[in-house]
Amino acid sequence: MLHDAAVLLEGDRIAAVGPFKDLQRVTGTVERGVDVVEVAGVLFPGFVDCHTHAVFGAPRLDDHERRALGEDYKTVAARGGGILQSVRDVRALGESELVALLRARVRALLAHGSTTIEVKSGYGLDPTNELKQLRAIRETATAERAALVPTFLGAHEVPPEFRDRRADYVRLLCEEMIPAVARERLATAVDVFCEPGVFDVVETRTILTAARQHGLEVKLHADELEGSGGAELAAALGARSADHLAAISDAGIRALATSDTVAVLLPATMMFLGKRTQAPARRLVEAGAAVALATDFNPGSSPTVGLPLVMALGVSQLGLRYAEVVSAVTVNAAAALGLATDRGQIAPGFRADLVSWGVSDWREVAYWMGEQLVTAVWTGGSACPAPAGSVSLGLHVQA
Ligand code: NIG
Ligand code: FE
Repeated sequence: MLHDAAVLLEGDRIAAVGPFKDLQRVTGTVERGVDVVEVAGVLFPGFVDCHTHAVFGAPRLDDHERRALGEDYKTVAARGGGILQSVRDVRALGESELVALLRARVRALLAHGSTTIEVKSGYGLDPTNELKQLRAIRETATAERAALVPTFLGAHEVPPEFRDRRADYVRLLCEEMIPAVARERLATAVDVFCEPGVFDVVETRTILTAARQHGLEVKLHADELEGSGGAELAAALGARSADHLAAISDAGIRALATSDTVAVLLPATMMFLGKRTQAPARRLVEAGAAVALATDFNPGSSPTVGLPLVMALGVSQLGLRYAEVVSAVTVNAAAALGLATDRGQIAPGFRADLVSWGVSDWREVAYWMGEQLVTAVWTGGSACPAPAGSVSLGLHVQA
């Protein structure tokens, strides 16, 4: 923690950081006619939300209530809700409608302090609709101030038309969809929902091996609801991250601890699903794994755009320290996206993504659960306009 600190920005980069007096002397701030912006409160590096499914249509309100009344996530899905409901929804929307929805959500994420946001496809599940989602992400990225990192999640579920021939869908993913995504540079990584009943570890390995062959990075939804060796597979494949991990095994913890794969934990998801368990965050940290936190923003299991809320849950549900939840949404989350040397720190050479918070103690960012505390945001070295009024999630409600 620096008090009376200053950050000198040049172009889109941080040039220097230190006590204001030192910086003024060393850089000749006044003589060089540098613009000075005074910030009250605490300045953090822009947060990195390294796991979202922000391209969707309607909220899934019925799923939420059915779970409250005792059906679990997989039963709701088997009875017509779940991911496939969002797939029907997204398939019926045009690319420009998806862009409008995503733009509003990206602004909401930014207003909660996230300046870099990973966004997955995964509600199209066929070549046309998966690419439509990825193009919507690309178009949104050119129009909005947050940086978006697109991930191809065609392996989010087996689509209904392939129910009885799932091997054909895996083949379609490997031979048609992944090559098209790589050719058009529509994503930097490929993700798979590796979970009993969705994609097993053998299928996951096949899909992610194809991704690697096309020059794409890999990551997994691993051991979310039932353990199946997803974390071990992530480490063996050199995945950028293994995400969820509520049902990780001891061997999985050891595998992540001795690898460069980041453990991305999503405590809001387990809360929203009404689960009593959470990923073993302390054991992961103590074993030596790099732990990141993300929102998992999606309509089924985590309808939140707020990393500060997730950080508060990180402390109270996962047993992490305040300093650990800050690392988890900055340095470690940047590492989960392969950006650890570019953003997530206020240090010379890093991208000038900064957020000021209306708090007097830095720990308050992970304390006031769900409170809106951001006072100003800079991305790539320039100030972002303040959101006009309350930020709408722009949710599309199905007729
Ligand atoms: O991360 N686990 C799979 N995917 C999402 C849920 C997506 C949905 O239910 O629409 C998740 O929890
Ligand atoms: Fe997810």
